[in-house]
Amino acid sequence: MLNSIFNSFELKGKTIKNRLVVPAMVANYCNEDGTATERYIAYHEEKARGGWGLIITEDYAICPLGRGFKNVAGLWNDEQIESHKELTKRVKVHGSTILAQIYHAGRQTNSAVIGAEIPVAPSAIMCPFGTTLPRALETFEIKEIIEQFAMTAYRAKQCGFDGIEVHGAHGYLVAGFMSLYSNKRTDDYGGNVIKRARFAVEIVEAIRKKCGDDFIIGFRISADEFIEGGRSFEETKVIISMLEKAGVDLIHVSAGVYGSADTIVPPYYTKPGWLADFAAEVKELVNIPVITVGRVNDPSIADNIIKTGKADFIAMGRPSLTDPAFPNKAQAGKFEQIRTCIACNYGCLGILFANEPIKCVLNPELGNEYLGDIKKADNPKKVAVIGSGPAGLEAAIYLSKADHNVTVFEKSKNPGGQWSLAAVPPGKGDLAAFIQWQISELSRLGVHVHLGTEVTAGYFDDKDFDEIIVATGATPIKPSIKGVDLPHVVFANDVLAGTVAAGMTPLIVGGGQVGAETAAHLGMNLRSVTLVEMGSAIAPEEALAPRWHLLRNLDERKVNVMTNAIVKEINENSVVVEVNGEEITIPADTVLLATGSTPENALVDQLQNKGFSVKVIGDAEKIGNVLDAVEAGYNLAKEL
Ligand SMILES: Cc1cc2nc3c(=O)[nH]c(=O)nc-3n(C[C@H](O)[C@H](O)[C@H](O)COP(=O)(O)O)c2cc1C
Repeated sequence: MLNSIFNSFELKGKTIKNRLVVPAMVANYCNEDGTATERYIAYHEEKARGGWGLIITEDYAICPLGRGFKNVAGLWNDEQIESHKELTKRVKVHGSTILAQIYHAGRQTNSAVIGAEIPVAPSAIMCPFGTTLPRALETFEIKEIIEQFAMTAYRAKQCGFDGIEVHGAHGYLVAGFMSLYSNKRTDDYGGNVIKRARFAVEIVEAIRKKCGDDFIIGFRISADEFIEGGRSFEETKVIISMLEKAGVDLIHVSAGVYGSADTIVPPYYTKPGWLADFAAEVKELVNIPVITVGRVNDPSIADNIIKTGKADFIAMGRPSLTDPAFPNKAQAGKFEQIRTCIACNYGCLGILFANEPIKCVLNPELGNEYLGDIKKADNPKKVAVIGSGPAGLEAAIYLSKADHNVTVFEKSKNPGGQWSLAAVPPGKGDLAAFIQWQISELSRLGVHVHLGTEVTAGYFDDKDFDEIIVATGATPIKPSIKGVDLPHVVFANDVLAGTVAAGMTPLIVGGGQVGAETAAHLGMNLRSVTLVEMGSAIAPEEALAPRWHLLRNLDERKVNVMTNAIVKEINENSVVVEVNGEEITIPADTVLLATGSTPENALVDQLQNKGFSVKVIGDAEKIGNVLDAVEAGYNLAKEL
């Protein structure tokens, strides 16, 4: 019974209908001039329709130099107001409260966004992720920026926002001032914690003066920057007390800076609600409501945090991308219908940092809300889907939603294909929830999934299917290495599946994500594991934050990681590896192959030769990632 998250909350004369918050997330859906597009508005509208009590938009830049991403929203001039007015109007129709996060990116930007201009910062110190050395702001410029914050907040008020949230977290300009990590100034805006907080305090005071008493002022702050030389929680608490005195109404406790991005957007390896204890300490300190955030992806966990008084609100960023209707489904007790975020960071953060509009691996509708729901077919067809990996199941879901009559065939007794194996390594169990969700959706839609049913082309001879979708995935590649056919040489996938056991000195050939995760998995059990990769990087295809964790796991579990290393020969008890032109013999009782996979699509020609109309999707078409696979399933349903 969820009896805490659906209680309303009164703030500044406004009723926030529940405790579920969408935190700021740059989507890169705006125009380059900072104005709102229909895509941007419809994306928020969908969340409002989905029942979120409080929606905090992405960070509106207060000036062009303050942009951290190319298509981020902006309110640095009056011409931008009109399009964002439309946003607040359409969100409020559904009863959500809406705040605009406002920010200046400071040194955490790049030339793809701000061109040849030099980024500004408290001090001329390079961000570890930066490409351009910033220049230190002059004191008069600091005053101008404070004024720009106040004016941006004022424009937000004119747009109809219920308030703003000052982005004082994650290492951007305001956070940069508050931390010795990036602020070495010797004037009134640097030095001890009181002086470093002065910029933030003056911004809050200026906003209050400009926007009046009834306007909500939120402030987002990193509890701890989790980086060497960064600000600790003890200093943060001092600053929070100052901010409360300055007039902040709502405090949002996040974590990290760009250099510790895996704490800003924690990957699947992180425990759900891991920042709630920081929020609880802040709650002890202040008399204003507190928001917690960080990997909360389950309604019961959220409810428990509120119930135990650790926070007043729960922000769920990525879960709101994966399922914008999370609150409504939770409130109706339809938990099995919630598409659970797995914190893979691949579609959202990964794509954002490529400066493209964000996507979600599990939700192909994200960013397409403005196109409306999938259309019903004029001539519904009878469709067979062969294969129950993410691509096949997603195609089946959307084909069914488009009114086609769909049947799924899967040769294995369990659905999921290779995706199920991806859920095996430590920390990745949540991945399994996606296949469960797909299967549960198909059952709700009345689609029959025949498990343990291997179909041949001949099976369809006497059937009247109009379309056959081949989504049979991929099979692992066996490289041509001397000794590869020895009995102790196995596929990493088979070890993950539990059908083959690894010995105590396994050697894994191939340091892509599958090989590296298998190595980390085996390394947990006191084995002496070696991972051999011919390229220079381990798991380069993995998204940034989870990749950091994976590399740390390999390190902690003492996996012998060899890069730029080529396996020359496999022997009964050892493997010969060439590194820098030198051959080394490494003991190995099991050799696991993780050297990629190849499309499994033998049925395609056979079915086409019989005259069937065939479509191929996912890995069966072309080896890709799960984002491609899920998107292919969705797109197919739109096209058929
Ligand atoms: C694509 C993306 C964009 C983000 N942009 C912002 C932002 O503009 N401002 C901000 O304060 N946090 C931003 N964040 C961080 C989120 O607000 C949130 O704190 C983080 O995703 C952790 O919460 P979650 O585990 O519920 O996703 C972003 C996160 C993602 C995934």
